[in-house]
Amino acid sequence: MITSIQELQEAALNSKKDFKTPSDIHPKERRVVLENVGVIDPQSIEDYIASGGYMSLFRALDEMSPKEVIEEVKISALRGRGGGGYPTGLKWESVSKVISEQKYIICNGDEGDPGAFMDRAVMEGDPHRVLEGMAIAGYACGANKGYIYVRAEYPIAVEKLSRAIKQATKFGILGENIAHSGFNFSVEIRLGAGAFVCGEATALIASIEGNRGHPRQKPPHLSDYGLWGKPTVLNNVETLANIAPIIKNGGAWFRAIGTESSSGTKVFALTGHIKNTGLVEVEMGTTLRELIFDIGGGVEDGRKFKAIQSGGPSGGCIPEHLLDLQVDYESLKSAGSIMGSGGLIVIDEGSNMVEIARFFMDFCRSESCGKCTPCRVGTTELTMLLDKFIAKKATKSDFELLKEMCKMVKSTSLCGLGQTAPNPVLSTIRYFEDEYLAGICDD
Ligand SMILES: Cc1cc2nc3c(=O)[nH]c(=O)nc-3n(C[C@H](O)[C@H](O)[C@H](O)COP(=O)(O)O)c2cc1C
Repeated sequence: MITSIQELQEAALNSKKDFKTPSDIHPKERRVVLENVGVIDPQSIEDYIASGGYMSLFRALDEMSPKEVIEEVKISALRGRGGGGYPTGLKWESVSKVISEQKYIICNGDEGDPGAFMDRAVMEGDPHRVLEGMAIAGYACGANKGYIYVRAEYPIAVEKLSRAIKQATKFGILGENIAHSGFNFSVEIRLGAGAFVCGEATALIASIEGNRGHPRQKPPHLSDYGLWGKPTVLNNVETLANIAPIIKNGGAWFRAIGTESSSGTKVFALTGHIKNTGLVEVEMGTTLRELIFDIGGGVEDGRKFKAIQSGGPSGGCIPEHLLDLQVDYESLKSAGSIMGSGGLIVIDEGSNMVEIARFFMDFCRSESCGKCTPCRVGTTELTMLLDKFIAKKATKSDFELLKEMCKMVKSTSLCGLGQTAPNPVLSTIRYFEDEYLAGICDD
């Protein structure tokens, strides 16, 4: 059992190891979230403690009030890494202010975007970091129970997290009266069946409660009415993995990394027609060119770059002339795309952008939960319309209908899935309209 900062420090010294930083980190990378991944043994709580792990939690419990913890997170200007970019400090503050005998912290490890595996890398490679972030969130918001929602297709993440929970509980770092502070916090895992929509906050909660993973309208917001109707903080894995370094180094340290509107780093999954696929963590504000050409090695087989799709199925395609865009929440939005969870798919000159848009639309069609008509019927109709362009059998009025229907599905769908499903179509119309016009057969 570890019951004080001194004991934690002693344990760290006793198991002191010479951790080796991986030699293949590109000079333009900056690791905060992934700093332990591939460095420590994720199955060993001793390794985590030796690397300074759980010190932020113990410091928070020993030296800071819940309000001070929230203040530090607010100073950091950390924004949620799950897609929306909502300020984490504000989210925590809303829940902390609600008076309730029971509150919950949920870690969203659903990660349904095709090609994305940032959260998986953290859950598998540094599970204690996630638990530490959740426990700090629990202390700050007055919650004593946490759930990690992981898709069942991530069995290694489930195994590593389960082991980490057992170890932390055995060490007294989770459980009752942590570090004699009077604070109790326990964590359980809930498995998802792999539906994309179950990553959406309200659908995820319905799924944990044992109901169908259907989203519901907001308000009420989760801060008032979350899991089992209780105030709930729901954060993405990467968001929570940033918490321990923020408490350790201070919010101002984090705020100094990145851009004015988006602090810190972001982990991206580079995929598609690129030489070096895989995860990279860079400061916010790194340009697309640096990401694709310097770190990613450029387009594979010497082919020409055409576009990059960011933000998963809800994102958009960014063309070559915007390669010097500094990646952050605002710049991607102004380019017609989004940060999303951090998927970056490189598209080469041989690809047809209408087919790319159809791929993502079809994904949303098959993943639509069917609860609301605009999303259920709209994504089906849009997929069929795109087929006409691909078969070069579309008419001018089909093009007008396509644009009109995109607007309708965006503005009338119940949840983020339908509200963002037309984004790949709209962004490819914006930058590659000629490829749609080539599919029109009447003049
Ligand atoms: C269709 C859909 C799927 C989503 N999938 C995920 C997901 O897999 N992981 C995630 O963290 N957030 C996902 N989100 C965003 C969540 O609803 C929520 O905003 C996020 O988990 C909040 O955490 P954050 O503030 O730390 O970003 C999804 C949203 C939508 C609309």
